[in-house]
Amino acid sequence: MTQYDAIVLGAGAAGLMCAARAGQRGLRVLLLERAEQPGRKILISGGGRCNFTNLGAGPANYLSANPHFAKSALARYTARDFLDLVERHGIAWHEKTLGQLFCDGSAKQIVAMLLAECERATENGGDVTLRCGEEVTEVAAEDGYTVRTRSGEYRAQNLVIATGGPSIPKMGATGFAYELARQFGLKLVEPRPALVPLTLGGDDVLFREISGVAAPVTATANKQAFSEAALFTHRGLSGPVILQVSSYWKPGDPVSVDFLPERETGWLLAAKRATPRATLRSVLREALPHRLADILAERIGIASELGNAPDAALREAETRLARWSFHPNGSEGFAKAEVTSGGIATGELSSQTMEAKKHPGLYAIGEAVDVTGWLGGYNFQWAWASGVAAGEAL
Ligand code: FDA
Repeated sequence: MTQYDAIVLGAGAAGLMCAARAGQRGLRVLLLERAEQPGRKILISGGGRCNFTNLGAGPANYLSANPHFAKSALARYTARDFLDLVERHGIAWHEKTLGQLFCDGSAKQIVAMLLAECERATENGGDVTLRCGEEVTEVAAEDGYTVRTRSGEYRAQNLVIATGGPSIPKMGATGFAYELARQFGLKLVEPRPALVPLTLGGDDVLFREISGVAAPVTATANKQAFSEAALFTHRGLSGPVILQVSSYWKPGDPVSVDFLPERETGWLLAAKRATPRATLRSVLREALPHRLADILAERIGIASELGNAPDAALREAETRLARWSFHPNGSEGFAKAEVTSGGIATGELSSQTMEAKKHPGLYAIGEAVDVTGWLGGYNFQWAWASGVAAGEAL
């Protein structure tokens, strides 16, 4: 049986980064990946251009039962550090909006960069061996850690769980990290689909008729507000703003939408004075896609000209448009969730090294851990930062 210094389970974003760092420190690292190629989620991310980090990434952009946990790793490996690496590899990039950085070319460049970083291990006497098509089925804590796949058995003093979360199972995602957590007695925060479209039923079902319509709105769930585009779909609500609030949404909660976040209070009464012959439908059509304007006007039910509508009714309409309450009956689940929130409880791990407090030599990084970023490059930044924290500690 081959002996390594460390075995990293999962060659995704966090596992590749961790293996490269550890290898460059002179360690012999084995990186085991069940898929036939590494970094599959990186390859499909950001529409194929990989939103690889966010310039504004800080602890406030993450959900976790312990919001302080991510601070240390994020401070020690920042978005600027990853950007320096990208630039050293000559990868052209651009900032889209809100600090989101993408490759100009292809996400393949990020995977190639991480593999090249793994190869650099040999410069310092280290080595990273990547074995794809190796699904880890069993781990035993015997004389360090023994890992079994269908084709082999490997041993190391250190083991890193970097198998991600179960979102998008058709990409090969698994809940294996949670199986290992249970085996080693590490507590789990209930894993839930996050950054996921929400489904509408009941009275809201009418909005499914305007599938394909998008508009910039402010959406709020559980007091957390985001301003970006919302998209109506044949199942309910999607678009960046809904994905963002979905991470804070829990079954039974409403999602409040301000359809006209730029408008100042009193705008509808001002419209009544300026254009008394206009209708609610016509003024909404000036600001919103027509199909959305029509359905909102119909639901509010003021059909008369504004000049003939009572002020109180217009004030009420304005309030409804600013706090439209949707009652999602669910989400599209792990099949469509960009990430999984929850996971291995941070209380089980050192925030400096990601090592399990109860099990020396056992580490957990990336999405497997209860740290979940907003949409916009934050999840990769956590994968890089937690991967580096463990890679430097192994
Ligand atoms: P990741 O899932 O990347 O890697 C885990 C690896 O472990 C996988 O390769 C898996 O095959 C392997 N594995 C699982 N079980 C195993 C087993 N038993 N044995 C061996 N290997 C096993 N984030 C972001 O910041 N910017 C973006 O643009 C996007 N875009 C995006 C698009 C889409 C469609 C999705 C689904 C997700 C994103 N994300 C994102 C989120 C981002 O992809 C995610 O947060 C990181 O990939 C998490 O990195 P990890 O390395 O933790 O898990």
